Amino acid sequence: MNIAIITGASSGLGREFVYLTDHAGVDEIWVLARRRDRLEALKKMVRTPVRIFAGDVTDAMTIDAVREALQVQQPVVRFLIHAAGLGKIGSAGDILPRQIHQMLAVNCEAAVILTELCLPFMVMGCHVAHICSVAAFQPVPYLNVYAATKAFVYRYCRALEMELKPRGIMVTAVCPYWIRDTEFIAVAQETRNSSYFCHFPFAGKERDVAATAFRDICRGRSVSTPGLMAKLDRIVAKCIPAGIMMRLVQLFR
Ligand SMILES: NC(=O)c1ccc[n+]([C@@H]2O[C@H](COP(=O)([O-])OP(=O)(O)OC[C@H]3O[C@@H](n4cnc5c(N)ncnc54)[C@H](OP(=O)(O)O)[C@@H]3O)[C@@H](O)[C@H]2O)c1
Repeated sequence: MNIAIITGASSGLGREFVYLTDHAGVDEIWVLARRRDRLEALKKMVRTPVRIFAGDVTDAMTIDAVREALQVQQPVVRFLIHAAGLGKIGSAGDILPRQIHQMLAVNCEAAVILTELCLPFMVMGCHVAHICSVAAFQPVPYLNVYAATKAFVYRYCRALEMELKPRGIMVTAVCPYWIRDTEFIAVAQETRNSSYFCHFPFAGKERDVAATAFRDICRGRSVSTPGLMAKLDRIVAKCIPAGIMMRLVQLFR
């Protein structure tokens, strides 16, 4: 049995990836997120059978449920797409310790733990994809922890890609620019002071970003920068020092 495992499937990019893998020839799609009702609704929207793991991706119980299902079913994990993630806007003191922990746990720790869990069930031609961000390309003041978590995942993906190449397993770091129609920005603004970012110019649409990213994942691209802004950020960040890059980012907020 071939399966896709998609986290963050209750909203935004994760949900779009479920629609896209519905046409990717897998036998089942396993979805993870906390909001069960959203996952139940999603299940009715696709043809491929969906198995729901409703829970916090940082909770050992959720991870254990996936581990047990993998051991019982012994599937081939064709796609692991970790789209669960969150950011919080603010300076020092604006973001609660619990929110900082959540960013580190969901964006970084869960990314590694899920990958480790799935790799024994992957063969040549399988895909690992982590949703990073253009925030991985330079430090971002007032999104400092978030940007650092994305830099972590980006570096993790790049190294893993080289390690897994001999096994024919492809790893993609997906690095989008702002997206306007997911829940991400609203969640990021739930801090003591989120006024540092008021404008999200040239923000993309979740459907377009997910479609481009999924195409790149299927092609085995090591880095996916869906949209012109993401591509520009990657190129410019490679060419100019981080200090200047951070000042440029300030112009956009
Ligand atoms: N939107 C942007 O501007 C943007 C730009 C660059 C990168 N990204 C990245 O893209 C990824 C997807 O974000 P999105 O824009 O699609 O945002 P979104 O609409 O807020 O989706 C986030 C998903 O993550 C899930 N999630 C969050 N915390 C979780 C937890 N503890 N356990 C399980 N699931 C959890 C949420 O589901 P539940 O709430 O149901 O658990 C939701 O399905 C994130 O990694 C984000 O950093 C977003």
